[in-house]
Amino acid sequence: MRIYLDNAATTALAPEVIEVMTQVMQENYGNPSSIYTEGRKSRALIEEARKVVARQIGASIGEVFFTSGGTESNNMAIKCAVRDLGVERIISTKIEHHCVLHTLESLASCGSIALDFVKLKADTSVDLEDLNQLLANSDQKTMVCLMHSNNELGTMIDLDEVSAVCQRHNALFHSDTVQTMGFFPIDVSKTKINFITGSAHKFHGPKGVGFIYINNDNLIKPYIEGGSQERNMRAGTENIYGIVGLAKALELAYENQETHRAHVTELRNYLKTELEAQFEDIQFNGAVDGRHHYKVLSVSFPQQPKSDLMLLNLDILGISASGGSACSSGSETGSHVINIVTKPADALRKTVRFSLSHLNTKAEIDFLLEKLKTITPVKEKASVTS
Ligand SMILES: Cc1ncc(COP(=O)(O)O)c(C=O)c1O
Repeated sequence: MRIYLDNAATTALAPEVIEVMTQVMQENYGNPSSIYTEGRKSRALIEEARKVVARQIGASIGEVFFTSGGTESNNMAIKCAVRDLGVERIISTKIEHHCVLHTLESLASCGSIALDFVKLKADTSVDLEDLNQLLANSDQKTMVCLMHSNNELGTMIDLDEVSAVCQRHNALFHSDTVQTMGFFPIDVSKTKINFITGSAHKFHGPKGVGFIYINNDNLIKPYIEGGSQERNMRAGTENIYGIVGLAKALELAYENQETHRAHVTELRNYLKTELEAQFEDIQFNGAVDGRHHYKVLSVSFPQQPKSDLMLLNLDILGISASGGSACSSGSETGSHVINIVTKPADALRKTVRFSLSHLNTKAEIDFLLEKLKTITPVKEKASVTS
């Protein structure tokens, strides 16, 4: 038996997605830029996919651009805002995904931007008072880059709240919505935001394809230069199978969002309650009782010999989970996020991120709880049964 609990790293392809992708692979080999029939058929599929994505997020079709995934979309948002929109200063957090954090650090290190980090509260949520203050302190043209949900902790921001603060100070707002796209309703016709991003493999679509929403007011130049694909903004022959798969996956994710959310929330709450009830000295990271992604539970276990190779031991026992982001998945090295949010006294504890999907079952959570009893100390009343 194998149990997959690393759905923040990536997700299994939905069968319906495989079906539409396979059909396109078999039937649509035309280059979407060719003007004859095969090309026009491929072009029509891409434009249909764009309509689906735009509809799901309340955008107009001209505001959606397909990319190779979340990393490229976030790079594009940040680098184009600096190059083309006059952004001189960016405010972000130290717990962004590396594709945002490293992009910001590299722009700051070559002097292209001033970089400020907003304070985090004790529960790892963003301190909006501090954000307000930082924005009030400077006249430089500023963009705020705050991820919608942290991929390691699950802590979320309220897009509307942050958008209101940005508008008050005339700042641009980019949010890495890679972890929430398909999981929470996002409506850019109601929430003023300059850039959001999505990655298909996080919502049961294919890897290597994503998209960026760029608000119509932002006149940016091409990010990848070459041909005139994606209305001149991102050159290169389109990943047509991926794009069709992405649109199908997003459509399914939103169609089933409430049912999946209820199921995953129930499993996560069960896991949290049972961990607390059955095991010694369990801590949870992130705003678990506040604004939090329902699919993520970051758990900190007490340090003891068997917890040293916790992820490896879990893997041997049939359970896939990670220590942090996919970059540190399967490795026992610390993550930048956990290192920042952990108090010195807890430095030796072991953190495991369990991230669930609608495909998980209560029996799987019970299996995990039983296996954990062989790795981490149980409370006196709970006994080892396997
Ligand atoms: C919050 C967040 N942003 C960006 C990315 C990068 O997305 P991709 O894997 O599509 O490049 C990830 C995926 O790990 C993520 O979790």
